[in-house]
Amino acid sequence: MKKILLSGVKPTGRPHIGNYFGAMKQFVDLQASEKYDCHLFIADYHALNLIQDAAEMRRLTLDLALDYLAIGLDPAQSVIFKQSDVPAHTELAWIFDTIVTMPYLMRAHAYKDAEAKDKELNVGTFNYPVLMAADILLYGTDIVPVGADQKQHVEYARDIALKFNHTFKSEAFKLPEDMIMKDVATVPGTDGRKMSKSYGNTIPLFAEREEIAKAVMGIVTDSSGDVPTNVYAIHKLFRTEADLKPLYEANKGKYKALKEALIEDVDAFVKPLRERRAILAKDEGKVIEILRQGAKKANEAASAKLVEAKKAVGVL
Ligand code: ADP
Ligand code: TRP
Repeated sequence: MKKILLSGVKPTGRPHIGNYFGAMKQFVDLQASEKYDCHLFIADYHALNLIQDAAEMRRLTLDLALDYLAIGLDPAQSVIFKQSDVPAHTELAWIFDTIVTMPYLMRAHAYKDAEAKDKELNVGTFNYPVLMAADILLYGTDIVPVGADQKQHVEYARDIALKFNHTFKSEAFKLPEDMIMKDVATVPGTDGRKMSKSYGNTIPLFAEREEIAKAVMGIVTDSSGDVPTNVYAIHKLFRTEADLKPLYEANKGKYKALKEALIEDVDAFVKPLRERRAILAKDEGKVIEILRQGAKKANEAASAKLVEAKKAVGVL
């Protein structure tokens, strides 16, 4: 029996190399391993907390589907779908809402960070971990490949599974585990902080060469050492440390030369992805059809668990 794998990304903007190495690359590698039944989705209802413009939502959703296909996700091997196409996610989230407490959700890091910035936080942002727990638990998921920032969300899914099973004397939900790759758990951005869309410190995954060059030249360096730490930390993603050693030895203190080498390496890596994406983008109808087929499979996969949960609570 294959293990069940599930993960999602929000369509909130262009993915960057932090998203790729931290999470999306694992989707492709694990799909190829053939050890898992892979479910990879576009978390559009999660994104709705942020993206509140219909045209933009449609564009970003299609863009992320193209990104998924361009990095190598294959609809013949993985179920690729959009969260809002599977109503069981929001239905199960409501059931969970009735057993999850407010103080428990108030302890979530993401909530605390968001609340510190905006007191008028919407309920969707507060409930974010509940919908995410439903995403995960609906498919009997064993593993959830994500970056380190999502660790607590997977713990919440486990807690919610336990609480449901206990409250309703049920065995409906399996406890999922996160899968976080140690070396890329938190990919640093051009300023050394976590690479994140919200910090403006990203190198976009499908960037053109000029954009890559601009981002790399903007990597913050301090002039105290031979090795520019922030440049090296990103360079490590593209070449082995054994490979980098002679380069950094030969260019001690020469930050510009090292950045130029990094631009070459990033561009060489990104180019085939960029080209594949451009070809896929010519036929959006095909992408929409892939999502439609994915939704069909996901609805089938999710329906048994939802029925089990509804029976357990007594609405069925
Ligand atoms: P962002 O923080 O840029 O908005 P998302 O929240 O859309 O990124 O994250 C999508 C996936 O990428 C998640 O699994 C997340 O853990 C992972 N991820 C995001 N940023 C990084 C990073 N800097 N390093 C490693 N993984 C990351
Ligand atoms: N919260 C995740 C992020 O910000 C996206 C997400 C939504 C997700 N539902 C999920 C990830 C279920 C893994 C499993 O990146």
